[in-house]
Amino acid sequence: MRTTPSVAETKQRLERTGQQHLLAFWDSLDESRREALLEAIVQLPLEHISSMLSQAASLARPAAADIRPVRPYLRNMADASKYRAIGDDLVKRGKVAAFIVAGGQGTRLGWRGPKGTYPATPVAGKPLFRVFAEQIMAAERAYGVRIPWFVMTSEANHHETERFFDDNRWFGRPRGDTMLFAQGMVPSVSLDGQVLLEHAWQPALNPDGHGGSLKALRQAGAIDHMQASGIEHLCYFQVDNPNVHVIDPLFLGLHVAAPDSSAEMSSKCVLKRDVTEKVGVFVKAPRLTVLEYSDAPKEIAEARDASGEIVYGEGSIAIHIIGVEFIRKLTDHPLGSVLPWHRAIKKVPFVDPVSGQRTDPAEPNAIKLESFVFDALHEAESPIVLRTDRVEEFAPIKNASGEDSPATSKAIQVERAVRWLKEAGIPVPCHANGQPDCVVEISPLTARSPEDLRRTMQGKSITAGTEVLL
Ligand code: UD1
Repeated sequence: MRTTPSVAETKQRLERTGQQHLLAFWDSLDESRREALLEAIVQLPLEHISSMLSQAASLARPAAADIRPVRPYLRNMADASKYRAIGDDLVKRGKVAAFIVAGGQGTRLGWRGPKGTYPATPVAGKPLFRVFAEQIMAAERAYGVRIPWFVMTSEANHHETERFFDDNRWFGRPRGDTMLFAQGMVPSVSLDGQVLLEHAWQPALNPDGHGGSLKALRQAGAIDHMQASGIEHLCYFQVDNPNVHVIDPLFLGLHVAAPDSSAEMSSKCVLKRDVTEKVGVFVKAPRLTVLEYSDAPKEIAEARDASGEIVYGEGSIAIHIIGVEFIRKLTDHPLGSVLPWHRAIKKVPFVDPVSGQRTDPAEPNAIKLESFVFDALHEAESPIVLRTDRVEEFAPIKNASGEDSPATSKAIQVERAVRWLKEAGIPVPCHANGQPDCVVEISPLTARSPEDLRRTMQGKSITAGTEVLL
């Protein structure tokens, strides 16, 4: 068992690493706060901060001249059924688990609770976590297998998330089949590399980004647990997209069996809606890379070919399959993961170690470091990309209004439901302009595809002007 270092040992370490100010208020703290402070300091990667900062500062963005488009697999490819059968077999044999990253703050949406508790669906108003849980349960029923679900939270929302799952009785699935764990935190530092104090007894910390999910899985024992129970591939998705196909046999089949896939990491994309859409794009530079919307040179983001198509249009929808052994390899590292640090300059309130004044800065004063899961693509020997259909799989809820908001997400969810009904041969009442004259929501437990609907909806119909939950 690890014991907390003494104050003398801590002082020496702080002197060695140039962070003595963290004990500036030691004399004024009571016993419990002193203990909390020593415990917090021991967790800080003080010996590595300067190298983390210089690595982040020198992170190379690919030059426009080195960037090439990628050639993704297409959802309607000729041998889709062959790969789908391979994926089906993988799921049936218990080789697959689901993994959601839900540690973000959801600040843009302005929702107070964890984002997964947001009521997202157009008729029942089901929270996002329930939509995903029902999808997993529907897949478990269809395949006759248990599909463990790993849920990454953060310090800020872990307890509330756990309470929500508990209050909802783990959405009807056995408690042991869902594993919740919090991602790591990294210190927020001043522009000259000093760890900021949030309070006199507490360093300022920020979540380490969704790239931290790999390290967090390893530290929570999830990788050992998966390997011991034969799970080989993780279906990774974000908390904000109710249309995600959590378990997708075609994607899984391609990931393990496409001739050019190393089965380490695979990703899904959709064609960008327009050149300004705020999604990362997959490019070759020369390795497969996600070029974040904020980093893309204008000539790349806006390039169009002779027929007017967007050249770098393979937008990331942040859905990946990641091999469990690959995660073990990536996390065999003294800092917990090989992924590079990205930095963002932000406003972080802090206590001045000299004056003792708590300050809410008017200008950005701090560097926040985080890592991105898609940087793991760089480490994969031969990752592949599957282009899917936007309506079918991407209805993100990010902003309170406008683009990627609850309203646009609901409209896309209804569009997909109507499309499934039509494909299943069920008449949908429409206005004169062709728009559906109904609001339809299809529970994942009712149908996972139009084929399921064909069976369950036989002889039934939708009444014009109604809201229907199927
Ligand atoms: C993200 C992707 C973008 C992609 C888009 C698709 C990044 C940097 N960008 O943008 O390439 O096109 O989604 O919708 O990811 N999260 C954590 N812990 C953290 C930070 C984030 O769990 O420390 C989770 C969030 O809960 C969320 C997801 O990661 O599920 C995405 O985070 P967010 O910062 O909202 O990314 P976007 O800007 O939406």
